[in-house]
Amino acid sequence: MPQRNDPVESPTAGGLDRRALDYTASIDYDRRLYTYDIAQSIAHARMLAKQGIISTNDAEGIVAGLEEIRGEIERGEFPFRQELEDVHMNIEARLREKVGEAAGRLHTGRSRNDQVATDMRLFTMDACDGAVAAVRRLQSALLDLAEANREVVIPGYTHLQRAQPVLLAHHLLAYFEMLERDAERFADCRRRGDVLPLGSGALAGVPYPVDREFLARELGFSRLADNSIDAVADRDFVVEFIAAAAACLMHLSRLAEEIVLWSSAEFGFVRLPEDFATGSSIMPQKRNPDVAELARARSGRVYGHLVAVLTVLKGLPLAYNRDLQEDKPALFDTVDTLLPTLDVFAAMLPSLRVDAERAAGAAADPSILATDLADYLVRKGLSFREAHRAVADLVRYADSQGKRLSGLALEEYRRFSPLFDDDALRLDVQAALAARDVPGGTSPRQVAAALKRARQRLASNA
Ligand code: ARG
Repeated sequence: MPQRNDPVESPTAGGLDRRALDYTASIDYDRRLYTYDIAQSIAHARMLAKQGIISTNDAEGIVAGLEEIRGEIERGEFPFRQELEDVHMNIEARLREKVGEAAGRLHTGRSRNDQVATDMRLFTMDACDGAVAAVRRLQSALLDLAEANREVVIPGYTHLQRAQPVLLAHHLLAYFEMLERDAERFADCRRRGDVLPLGSGALAGVPYPVDREFLARELGFSRLADNSIDAVADRDFVVEFIAAAAACLMHLSRLAEEIVLWSSAEFGFVRLPEDFATGSSIMPQKRNPDVAELARARSGRVYGHLVAVLTVLKGLPLAYNRDLQEDKPALFDTVDTLLPTLDVFAAMLPSLRVDAERAAGAAADPSILATDLADYLVRKGLSFREAHRAVADLVRYADSQGKRLSGLALEEYRRFSPLFDDDALRLDVQAALAARDVPGGTSPRQVAAALKRARQRLASNA
């Protein structure tokens, strides 16, 4: 065993104190970039040979060696070494063991600075694709739940006070829309991040006739970075991904909170299936919404990553600085938080059991029709402000009598406005829903059309 402060033998970290090495090494987490790093090195080797910068023989040896290394990593047989710092040095050192001198030629016309930036962009582009696909699966689950409960009415809330009746499907479609924008943000992040850094070298470009267009094509990039300093120095694509994830998880935290509320005895609108609820060790009656609670909490963790990466970048002088290595734990943990959250919601939602009667009971609270009573008076010629005042007085009066609006007689209504007639007493939830027949409104007709549009949108994105 080396002493903690023994100098370390390594190509880059030669003579580095063991504690300094442990502090600076990233291999424990950046090994995750290996597929991108190997794909990049293969493309780079082929390009170098094509341009006559290295021999075809060397390139073939390098490519074969890299493919073997990929197999070793996949099989869990690769000997990762801490003293080699990071994934790039680990792979290169192993390549040297396999192909000897030729391995040293792979790094011609490349620096770890453009190398790591290229790996990170490839990783982020894949993460965007994964996020879009997971968002689509959740949207589809939301639609299933909405369609299976088309007729269910719940109170819509403002300030968490019952406000106006809405269809549950309408409420769920609100989340569909939020997720639609989340998917767009991920797609947009991918589009902007889709730029090849390789060829930028350490910061100034490389003094070899490299073919960057070829590299871009091989690696699936649409464009070349236009500025070598920018290409190695910025990580705004990481910021954008984490920001998109933060917004998406913020949306999920609201859905999570509603599941927590709705599954409580106080609301009782939904019942969690056994396989998505946990019991209590001492209270046998409990079904706890732990999945929703943890999702609600984990959004915060990703906000933390966003602030962390913004802070890493803040005030950094151009171009590369080792600080940039800290982008990885934040980005990786964001992906590992986001995707499982989207997946577990997609699994849980279709099995929520909706208690239509409980929901209808809450939505039948007569005070929920107060706005409709005001609108009734408006239709009879009163200004909305006047009508609002009359109904507010009426509600206050009902309260003072310990009655609900539906328990008052027509004469009592008339004390607040002579415009009230029998039909005012017949206003009900269904009429309130049907009345809101504007595009984007909660009338059954509009919601049916919205469900259909949502299905089509999903199908066209598939
Ligand atoms: N592990 C480093 C990172 O993630 C790789 C680049 C190192 N470059 C350097 N000049 N030390 O940023």
